[in-house]
Amino acid sequence: MIFINYYLPKKKYYIIQSIQEIMEIQDKTSLKLPKENLEAKDFLPLLGTDYVELYVGNAKQAAYYYMSAWGFQPLAYAGLETGLKDRVSYVLEQDKIRIVLTSSLVPGGPINKHVDSHGDGVKAIALWVDDAVNSYKETTSRGAKSYLSPQTLEDDNGKVVLSGIHTYGETVHLFVERSDYHGVFMPGYKKWLPRYKPSEVGLRYIDHMVGNVGWNEMNKWCEFYAKVMGFAQLVSFDDKDISTDYTALMSKVMSNGNGRIKFPINEPADGRKKSQIEEYIQFYNGAGVQHMAMATNNIIHTVSNLRDRGIEFLTVPSSYYDDVLDRVGEIDEELEPLKDLGILIDRDDEGYLLQIFTKPVLDRPTMFIEIIQRKGAKSFGKGNFKALFEAIEREQASRGTL
Ligand code: FE2
Repeated sequence: MIFINYYLPKKKYYIIQSIQEIMEIQDKTSLKLPKENLEAKDFLPLLGTDYVELYVGNAKQAAYYYMSAWGFQPLAYAGLETGLKDRVSYVLEQDKIRIVLTSSLVPGGPINKHVDSHGDGVKAIALWVDDAVNSYKETTSRGAKSYLSPQTLEDDNGKVVLSGIHTYGETVHLFVERSDYHGVFMPGYKKWLPRYKPSEVGLRYIDHMVGNVGWNEMNKWCEFYAKVMGFAQLVSFDDKDISTDYTALMSKVMSNGNGRIKFPINEPADGRKKSQIEEYIQFYNGAGVQHMAMATNNIIHTVSNLRDRGIEFLTVPSSYYDDVLDRVGEIDEELEPLKDLGILIDRDDEGYLLQIFTKPVLDRPTMFIEIIQRKGAKSFGKGNFKALFEAIEREQASRGTL
């Protein structure tokens, strides 16, 4: 049985359950799916994103930032007080999003090396699975490089099984099996209950996580997700879709079978000046996570809150709003607050979406965060690419890196 959502040219999702169906759709649409897709099976069922772990220079202060500015709630802590000798981790959550902030407590070692090379950044995208041993076997037998052989962690609240593989750059995927665990996060962590608990801003789940890879590496990593993890390609954008007068990039979106995990992969394309992807690769010192997109049910509420708490967003010229409704048609929201906040709008055959992007949230011009509200649309805001990339170029120019 094959369960794959294909995003075909008519912009409809097809739930495909047999190779015959794929062949029929190929005949009807003239779309040629990569051979790997025909062989794709649900050998790696993923229940969702379990957590995202960032290696940072100062986890305590980063935790304060994600609580005060982003409305994350304190959940768990591990450090000297829980028996760790060399590292400290703070776990925060907001609805279904969990982030872990980890710093080293000693000189040298892999966390310091990561921060020295990349600055603060995403180390692990942890995926929630039913069987971490099998996930490890299925992926490593298809060519994934091992990061963590399966380990069972236990305490009074039960057990968690963890395993992991490498992906682009120094980023890894962990597989987390937690059906037998009833504690706060995982063994080794204690509940973290600070008095300071700023209110949430309405972030609900991780919609997608985007990787930037080097020149001519996009297809290699898309093939990795197809072959090693059974993902299918939803959609691709080339430099004609994503280019301005100065810079260009290419992007393909890979998705797992149930569509809960979506990983767009970007690479630079030739342009007259340095693209945002090249700037990222230069400052991150290699491939890595470019942005996390977090979903909300009320983007006006969420973005107003974030702006009041000090988050800075990319802005587009107000002329963007002069004809946006001609392009996207009727929407439920008033245009004025969207314009005031700089929220972008796009539509596909299934509905529309509202989105906005922060400036980089770290010292280096590397990772940023997207806030997205989907009102039927399953796409990624192609109609906004040009306005968005011009906004990024204005920021690059101010950094002298265009
Ligand atoms: Fe995005």
